[in-house]
Amino acid sequence: MPQPFPDHPYLRGYYRPFPAEMEAPDLVVEGTLPESLAGTFYRNGPNPQFPPHPQDRYHVFDGDGMIYAIRLEGGRASMRNRFVRTRKFELERAAGRRLFGVFGNPRFNDPSVSPMDYNTANTHIWPHADGLYALMEGCPPTAIDPETLETKGYETFGNTVSGPFTAHPKTDPADGALHAFGVSAKGPGTTAIRYNVIDANGAPRHVAWLEQPYASMMHDFALTETKLVFPCLPLVISMARALEGKPIAAWEDDRPAAFGVMAKGGEGGASVRWFETDPTFAFHIANSFDDGQDIVLDVAGSKRAPLMPSADGTLPRHEDTRFTLRRWRIGGNGHFREEPIDGLDVQFPRIDDRVQGRRYRKAFVNATARPTAGRIDGFDMIAAVDVETGARDAFSFGEGAYCGEPVFVPRGPAEGDGWLLALVWDSQSNESFLAVLDATRVADGPVAKVHMPARVPGGFHCHWRAAR
Ligand SMILES: [Fe+2]
Repeated sequence: MPQPFPDHPYLRGYYRPFPAEMEAPDLVVEGTLPESLAGTFYRNGPNPQFPPHPQDRYHVFDGDGMIYAIRLEGGRASMRNRFVRTRKFELERAAGRRLFGVFGNPRFNDPSVSPMDYNTANTHIWPHADGLYALMEGCPPTAIDPETLETKGYETFGNTVSGPFTAHPKTDPADGALHAFGVSAKGPGTTAIRYNVIDANGAPRHVAWLEQPYASMMHDFALTETKLVFPCLPLVISMARALEGKPIAAWEDDRPAAFGVMAKGGEGGASVRWFETDPTFAFHIANSFDDGQDIVLDVAGSKRAPLMPSADGTLPRHEDTRFTLRRWRIGGNGHFREEPIDGLDVQFPRIDDRVQGRRYRKAFVNATARPTAGRIDGFDMIAAVDVETGARDAFSFGEGAYCGEPVFVPRGPAEGDGWLLALVWDSQSNESFLAVLDATRVADGPVAKVHMPARVPGGFHCHWRAAR
């Protein structure tokens, strides 16, 4: 029989696990859904099926993936949510309890399970070719049926993806190819990175290998029109440390930040040029582009990684881990420079994906202007920020609102002409809704709210797949 979850900030309130799988055919819509909005909004996020081992400590990155799909068409909306049925999920469901350590930590794995089967598939949801993939950076993509959300198993793209695969691949607007990487590609804590290119039809096109200076927990990378940038930042994976009962991933501020620059479609190895600078951090890159010999990366950046301890187990101060929009410039001469773009606390940055890798103007973020004691507090705002001028067009859902990642859906041909979709939980009414805003008039607030049949727990990344 499932046991109660422990008292943990990421297991209550917004993050309280939600065990039900639902379908709702015709949701209440407040306002007017644009007729042209036809497709499905997908959201992935951590939703643990069972509590961890009593001596293990839960982490928000560790819950089992649950996919929400909200379909919009002809001004009407429906929804469905399903767990991703990984092997871990199925084994634990059969046992009626948790069998794997948090992050697959072998100290707390049940003897009956293989560490190879640790997969939460909880971080991103990415359509490519005819497929849809639940992504978690430690494992290959998990294929999901885009209509039913049935789990179909690992996708290896013709045996070219054999292990870790980033939760943040990039779709190149030039040809629709998918560029991706896997860290710890030769085992947890190794410095090997595998780079994959998969063409627009889902066929493997290219594989290359490179080594990063140390085993950073590289979460995202950059793709411009001509180059790739692999950011090796001082959040370090160590199996040796984990086996001593210390954190498997920890901030090591005596390490430099290093950026590996390689040609798009490059051969890896010695063709990668590494540039070092002082420790700095970002989980997420909004966009990146070539600027002469320089490369520009616009990031949700911080001094130090949030949510992760130092090697001695101490947790960071909130003011050191606030993410704000920043511009990183990697000079062709190897110099690194950081400039602020906007001062709001932000969580997830997105763009109009048609300008991925190109010079662009608009970053879309969920954000807050309120002082926060940690990352549990709500990001109550959606903002569109002009990355050249810093001008901000923002809307707050008010006190007690928790707003997720905003996804851009194109309307007209110009960059930024479209809609922003984001899931919001109002903690005061305990209601969740999908907010639809005009991306060119964010401050006007939602043109429509699609009301969910029940609270949607906090999650990570989202994607839009147009009706076809
Ligand atoms: Fe992410």
